[in-house]
Amino acid sequence: MADFEGQTLLITGGATGLGAAVAVEAARAGARVAIFDVNERDGIAVARAAGGRFWRVDVGAAEQWATAVDAVTAELGPVRYAHLNAGIMSRPLDVALSVPPIEDFTLGRYEALRRVNIDGVMFGLQALVPHMARSAGGAVTITSSMGGMMPIPFDPVYSSTKHALVGLVRSLGAAYPSGPVRFNAICPGGFTSDLFPPELHGPDSLEPKDVALEVIDLLLRGATGETRLIVKKDVPARAISPSLG
Ligand SMILES: NC(=O)c1ccc[n+]([C@@H]2O[C@H](COP(=O)([O-])OP(=O)(O)OC[C@H]3O[C@@H](n4cnc5c(N)ncnc54)[C@H](O)[C@@H]3O)[C@@H](O)[C@H]2O)c1
Repeated sequence: MADFEGQTLLITGGATGLGAAVAVEAARAGARVAIFDVNERDGIAVARAAGGRFWRVDVGAAEQWATAVDAVTAELGPVRYAHLNAGIMSRPLDVALSVPPIEDFTLGRYEALRRVNIDGVMFGLQALVPHMARSAGGAVTITSSMGGMMPIPFDPVYSSTKHALVGLVRSLGAAYPSGPVRFNAICPGGFTSDLFPPELHGPDSLEPKDVALEVIDLLLRGATGETRLIVKKDVPARAISPSLG
């Protein structure tokens, strides 16, 4: 069975939250961890805790990817696993979770969101898939959201970017069913992080570690094209199939 022992795992958005939890858990399971993030201070600290390395990479800057993947390969070996996880919401959440007027969604805000949440994944795939195919193949898990499968009235455009990732993963899985790279997505409900204020959490809300363990399972064993939903602590995660019925 596949495991992380001696394998390189690249995580985007690994400085805090879910990505940081994946870094720590995967390192415990033997992975060599590479973190790409724009948050240098926390990224370096997490990389140190995981015995890995940090690179300051803006995932939305296409030109940074090739050089950064070459640097990882030189220091840690070829990338076998990747968690494309960096993401932002369009505005800070507050407890009232009000519905924003559509005209408040300026072009600048739209582009900032698309740049990280969609371009950052596309550029990562374009740099990593040929790289993985040239070596031993690999697996990519993308962080979508529960809001990639159902509506988020307080942040519709964020929800649209996460729906795009679900469509991308399902289509890549259908396009390349026999590899050499597997593609799947984690779709979490709210979990404690800088994106999600603690006031919104209940006793059965997820912690980053709950979601991180599902990401690790997807990386090692998830089916290609799988989109896995995890909503609450005590409800098992499950694959959600696309359905027309
Ligand atoms: N927290 C939740 O409730 C929740 C629920 C569903 C999905 N998600 C998704 O989980 C992922 C991780 O979010 P989190 O909750 O751990 O939040 P977080 O803010 O702790 O982590 C996001 C990380 O992405 C990094 N990042 C932002 N822009 C970047 C860029 N241009 N280049 C590189 N790194 C960049 C940030 O610096 C941060 O370290 C996101 O994709 C988010 O949309 C979060």
